[in-house]
Amino acid sequence: MKHIYIHYPFCLAKCPYCDFNSYAKETLTQDMWIDGILKEWCHHGAPQNPDTIFFGGGTPSLLSPHNIEKILNHLQPHFLTEITLEANPTTFETKKFQDFHHAGINRLSLGVQALNEKGLKNLGREHHVKETLHAMTQARSIFSNLSFDLIYGRSYHTTDEWREELNMALSINPDHLSLYQLTIEEGTLFEKKFKNHQLPMPDLDVQADFFELTINYMERFGYDMYEISNYAKKDHESQHNLAYWRYKDYLGLGPGAHSRLDGRAIMRIKNPKQWYNQLLSQDDITSLSSLEQQMERLLMGMRLTKEGVSIHDVQNVVHMDKISDLKNQGFLLNCEDRLIVSQKGRIFLNYILQMIIV
Ligand SMILES: C[S@@+](CC[C@H](N)C(=O)[O-])C[C@H]1O[C@@H](n2cnc3c(N)ncnc32)[C@H](O)[C@@H]1O
Ligand code: SF4
Repeated sequence: MKHIYIHYPFCLAKCPYCDFNSYAKETLTQDMWIDGILKEWCHHGAPQNPDTIFFGGGTPSLLSPHNIEKILNHLQPHFLTEITLEANPTTFETKKFQDFHHAGINRLSLGVQALNEKGLKNLGREHHVKETLHAMTQARSIFSNLSFDLIYGRSYHTTDEWREELNMALSINPDHLSLYQLTIEEGTLFEKKFKNHQLPMPDLDVQADFFELTINYMERFGYDMYEISNYAKKDHESQHNLAYWRYKDYLGLGPGAHSRLDGRAIMRIKNPKQWYNQLLSQDDITSLSSLEQQMERLLMGMRLTKEGVSIHDVQNVVHMDKISDLKNQGFLLNCEDRLIVSQKGRIFLNYILQMIIV
């Protein structure tokens, strides 16, 4: 197994926009969590020497560096393995960055989210700008592969503010940025507020302005868009996430983690305590039909703005005759054997997918 995802489901607080499998109440000790992770890993044949390992969450930077090291000692990464940790920029976590690095983490993905007080407050984040900038600078001085996550298109957010935030983030010279448009996710507090008209969101034209500004700005500063929300300096694309978008197999460990293994989708129990109490007995395994696999491959691959997806690999789920129309309208690049969205098409990805899916 070349790609391993490890999910730590706890956070200091639950953010009102987030629908990830994360909980503010720590219902498992770190020892129980590790015990569960290693049992799952053994159950899947104890694969070692993966090419990528991703500690995601939740907030895995709440783990002790010693516990990260313990897991890595079992997984035996090789000297080129990309080992990412998602971290929140609170002072408590920043103090541990050096020790995470010693434990074997070689790529840090820092959840900056916003770089003005209004934005952080709107998103219900626990950190302030000064603390966030300190975490970013510390991370830069420790990790040679560093990524920041930011969210744009927030309530009351302006493109001028966003430009300023991008400037601040770029001044720290990260290698990679994930820049997400705020999405209202089902079941979140934001969804409730949005439905009650308490959360104004930018209209489609303003969303398009944010998106265009982001692409132009990032490319001007030497970051290539390689996925619809991801930008990297040369050779700094996330190898782990590329594996998802290229529809490679991966093993997911931990509560609610997904895996794709030999045409099977596995989703582990979401609730941490139940996951631990029913380890291995309740694998939710679904065999994916060839059409389902092609559909997943299409949805993932179309997000890759440079390489797209091979037409041959998705031929049974796309309307071949619509493809030439979309090429003529300039939404797809004129490439014979791959489906790749054009610059104009990037913002219309959902429309393009609606048009081509059979
Ligand atoms: C697993 S989450 C976060 C990791 C870390 N706990 C944090 O909060 O920084 C990964 C990323 O998804 C993005 N994200 C989560 N919910 C989102 C939403 N509703 N809209 C847009 N981006 C979102 C955030 O940028 C976040 O950093
Ligand atoms: S955004 Fe991050 S910190 Fe906030 S609830 Fe989601 S996973 Fe936890």
